Amino acid sequence: MTRDELLATLVDDATIDAAQAIVGLAVDYLAETSRGVGPVSRSTHARDVARRFDGPLPDEGCSLDEVARRLRDDVMREANRLSHPMYVGHQVSPPLPVAIWTDSVIAALNGSQAVREMSPATTFVERQVVRWMCRLAGFGDASGGTFTSGGTEATLTALLAARARLLPNAWADGVGAASGTAVGAAVGAAVGAESPVVLCGVHAHYAVSRAVGVMGLGVRNAVTVASDGYRMDPRAVRTTLESLRRDGRPVLAVVATAGSTATGSFDDLPAIADCCAEFGCWLHVDAAHGGSALFSPAHRHRVRGIDRVDSLAWDPHKMMLLPLAAGMVLVRDAAVLDSAFAQQAPYLFHQTDDEPSYDIGPRSFQCSRRGDVLKVWAALLRYGRSGIAGFYEHLCELTAGFHELVSAHPRFEALHRPETNILCFRYTGADARGEAAADAVNRELRERYNAAGEGWITSTLLDGRRVLRVTIINPRTTPQHLQRVLDGVDAIGATLSS
Ligand SMILES: Cc1ncc(COP(=O)(O)O)c(C=O)c1O
Repeated sequence: MTRDELLATLVDDATIDAAQAIVGLAVDYLAETSRGVGPVSRSTHARDVARRFDGPLPDEGCSLDEVARRLRDDVMREANRLSHPMYVGHQVSPPLPVAIWTDSVIAALNGSQAVREMSPATTFVERQVVRWMCRLAGFGDASGGTFTSGGTEATLTALLAARARLLPNAWADGVGAASGTAVGAAVGAAVGAESPVVLCGVHAHYAVSRAVGVMGLGVRNAVTVASDGYRMDPRAVRTTLESLRRDGRPVLAVVATAGSTATGSFDDLPAIADCCAEFGCWLHVDAAHGGSALFSPAHRHRVRGIDRVDSLAWDPHKMMLLPLAAGMVLVRDAAVLDSAFAQQAPYLFHQTDDEPSYDIGPRSFQCSRRGDVLKVWAALLRYGRSGIAGFYEHLCELTAGFHELVSAHPRFEALHRPETNILCFRYTGADARGEAAADAVNRELRERYNAAGEGWITSTLLDGRRVLRVTIINPRTTPQHLQRVLDGVDAIGATLSS
């Protein structure tokens, strides 16, 4: 392209017709997929997909139409079609259309959320949404938070805030140097040079141990506590805290889960909060999945006690049905979050007439950060609290119905009652001798079912056994679709049994 041609693309590619070439792909995809047209996924061999993307960096550009063709033929064709009603796989949402379109506005504006001067309105949108969410959680005026890339970053940020409270010198001097200072007072224990411990349930997402590793505490200091019915056992929390206190080990935080990854189970927050209050520990709750229960009068009892936690991670990109990425960390005392990243950056954060400073960057791990809050805000405007609650309740009701189907079926076993939209179950119809054989059947079953393209389910290990798992996260899924999923898995099971 000549320089003139290059500059002309900025005009040519910005017309509604040009936008149609690309955005139209998303419109067609949604229309087709939502009606259940075509397969949920293709099982093209990874080698064949990889081959499409092993060409050299192009020296010259191509037309916008050619870009659209590559997107359609090489990328979209191979995607797992999350908006297909037979997709009941991972906890990734089929995004709400209003949020998909708002995503293009976010990209067009491309304001960075770090400093108010770079996102003059979106800073306040984020502050408003954070305030709304803090109120839903029952937090008071001192609360605050920030958007994150998801639950993993939210939990890391929360644990950094917990570290700032327990070991105020850790940021400057490191954890090793800081241990043995404020720790003793915080846990009422004699403290040696041992690294602080983070307690979590055996079912906790790896976000917790990853944060512990990233903070240099050593992952062996992410101590897991026994479960009772896939929930962290509060009695085990207490006995572990007692034993850590006896050993003089400082506790950085206890992490509970509201909506666990495997089973969607909710920990007993009031009982765990009582322990944390008694032992003076920071309580963080990973509500990445289950935080959205707060919208629903019918489900908010699942997160009873959340108003007593010090921090929570909550992913709108899960049960609020928003596109990746949209996560949040909320803290009861925003001042502690401000001390999590104690840095100056005169090229970014300068003294302005703002009183106090409205910049969100100082409390976020990220520097340049998308205005992801806009799509959350747009969805909240479009549906209100009751609409988001309606989707949440609908998905949970569908899952309860699926649980009934599974429980009534002679060749399936439900492994728990669903507390949200996740259910683990097992195929028992094969003549499998022993646990290892039953595991192999269930593993094979899932692989074959997904490969056929009719539906898409997941699998996990539960109590050491391989099980099937669904997350019913598409409001377009109906009870009839769920019956088809079960029939489809059963039909494949019959071929494995024979
Ligand atoms: C309970 C829980 N916590 C944290 C995460 C990680 O969240 P993200 O992928 O948004 O970082 C997940 C993801 O599935 C999750 O289920």
